Amino acid sequence: MEIIENMAESTSKSVLVLHGPNLNLLGLREPDHYGKNTLADIDGLLAKRAKEANIHLQSFQSNSELELIQRLHGLADKKVDFIIINPAAFTHTSVALRDALSAIKVPFVEVHLSNIYARETFRHHSYFSDIAVGVISGLGAQGYLLALDYAIQTIAD
Ligand code: DQA
Repeated sequence: MEIIENMAESTSKSVLVLHGPNLNLLGLREPDHYGKNTLADIDGLLAKRAKEANIHLQSFQSNSELELIQRLHGLADKKVDFIIINPAAFTHTSVALRDALSAIKVPFVEVHLSNIYARETFRHHSYFSDIAVGVISGLGAQGYLLALDYAIQTIAD
């Protein structure tokens, strides 16, 4: 588990980035599907873009469904305006994580590095897409940055 936090100078706007299981292995893991960027590379790019926009950004990765759900429950008393989530393998399995997102009612974009619709059929179904604001799949690390740009525009006053 890792929490990376980039505190913008003065802002009331906040974005949470959640990365699911095995994404801590990015860079080493199946680069043909997931690219060569490490998770630290991606989080660094997101932190830079958020700082430029004066947005508070937190990134959190866990291999545990429990920890991801608890992280979402913990938002009840903190203000988070937007979530970017790559649920990774939990995309295709986790009703519990879906229910946690529904419960907290924070808008989110679902991101996948690979194009899940061009892969095995078990990856074609997502428990998140129908409750997401949108889905970005197959654009690699850039997908996270596009999601963040969307979040920044959406939550701007
Ligand atoms: C993934 C796609 C999932 O099917 C897979 O289980 C992952 C990563 C992606 O980013 O392409 O771990 O979410």
